[in-house]
Amino acid sequence: MKRTKITELLATQPGGEVCAKGWVRTRRGSKSVYFIALNDGSTIKNIQVVADAEKFDEELMKQVTTGACLSVEGTLVESVGSGQAVEIQATKIEVLGVCGADYPMQKKGQTFEYMRQHAHMRLRTNTFGAVMRIRHNMAIAIHTYFHEHGFFYFHTPLITASDCEGAGNMFQVTTKNLYDLKKDEEGKIIYSDDFFGEQTSLTVSGQLEGELGATALGAIYTFGPTFRAENSNTPRHLAEFWMIEPEMAFYDKEDLMDLEEDFIKYCVRWALDHCQDDLEFLNKMIDKTLIERLEGVLKEEFVRLPYTEGINILQEAIKNGKKFEFPCEWGDDLASEHERYLVEEHFKRPVIMTDYPKEIKAFYMKTNPDGKTMQGTDVLFPAIGEIIGGSVREESLEKLQAEIDRRKMDDSKLWWYLDTRRWGSCPHAGFGLGFERLILFVTGMANIRDVIPFPRTPGSAQF
Ligand code: 4AD
Ligand code: MG
Repeated sequence: MKRTKITELLATQPGGEVCAKGWVRTRRGSKSVYFIALNDGSTIKNIQVVADAEKFDEELMKQVTTGACLSVEGTLVESVGSGQAVEIQATKIEVLGVCGADYPMQKKGQTFEYMRQHAHMRLRTNTFGAVMRIRHNMAIAIHTYFHEHGFFYFHTPLITASDCEGAGNMFQVTTKNLYDLKKDEEGKIIYSDDFFGEQTSLTVSGQLEGELGATALGAIYTFGPTFRAENSNTPRHLAEFWMIEPEMAFYDKEDLMDLEEDFIKYCVRWALDHCQDDLEFLNKMIDKTLIERLEGVLKEEFVRLPYTEGINILQEAIKNGKKFEFPCEWGDDLASEHERYLVEEHFKRPVIMTDYPKEIKAFYMKTNPDGKTMQGTDVLFPAIGEIIGGSVREESLEKLQAEIDRRKMDDSKLWWYLDTRRWGSCPHAGFGLGFERLILFVTGMANIRDVIPFPRTPGSAQF
């Protein structure tokens, strides 16, 4: 008999003969009847299987333990007590895969730390099922948003010879024999005989190539993995994370901020519209204010706050007794505690911070007429801090070259990027959304390691 997914069965009128396949969540029973809660990952909800003890072999039923995989055939009947409209009155049960008592997801209420050590099996729990289904839905929301707004999905390389953010936190890519590295007279490794003929790394951002796309196609977006070898062991950093980077020709700072706000609200609305069951589960089990917070973001306009005003607010707070761990004088890069103070305590809604000091931002941002600040537009979110990093790009070849020289950057790797400013340069802007940070916000999970199936962090690349 053809198998039907549980999400469909639960929406089917009782009466017919059905087949469900899935994993046992729980099994209880009396002498005369067994109740099996079966889940197949298609929904957070289980279907209840009722099996009369006299119809089923005792040895078979001993194998129906938490985690075991079953195929069940039977009649879909109206349910009285299972909390669902229907359940399966079983006529045939087959154990597809037994599951021993050493199954690591056996017990309820394990810590997230424990689950990370069993990341290969944690996907079968309710919480991770919910997070992964929401993650999928957010990816669909993102593609749908951009497609409907006339952006083209543009694929940028993962292997690169340039460092977009200029922070130097890159993983090298090489086929060299690391036990026998040839060096020049100055002691520098020779790369001319390496696979690509030069030093290459995994990309930290697709932006530079994205700009090439935008200045030809008008508006593009990327959606792919990015890699950062920063040794930050925080609940918001991964060494491998997914980033969405739209890039738009003819956008100024206002256009950019409008897009950032509209896009993020669209994603949150999509979650509320498409992930109801999973959100209700997470709201109950993980964070009782989750749905309220998601709805809150939709109602309010984001604050648009120049960095300098932000610093003034933080200084004022310090005067009034607020204690921060890190300094926040004009010119300092804001720490997450500062961002969260502004968002969670001062404004109590998301903030788009703009016009940052040159020294704390990347070379490609457009410099303001004051010569001191750049047209960055980062979006700061409650509980997360920075969720989007964006900016207007410097479109003047002369000014961009001057900034590259001032920073003593190696422009031999950037000639192709500079050509966009040489031939038909145009005003343009773009941003990068950290996909996992969006998922953190939408699921209410506290640690970024728990919103990606297999996290990559310092000291950990298992599974
Ligand atoms: O602010 P970032 O570094 O900006 C860029 O890379 C630009 N090139 C984007 C652009 O304008 N096209 O990173 C963008 C976002 C951050 O706001 C954050 O959400 C996320 O990427 N992010 C990380 N997420 C997880 N782990 C990390 N280590 C991250 N680093 C950045
Ligand atoms: Mg940033």
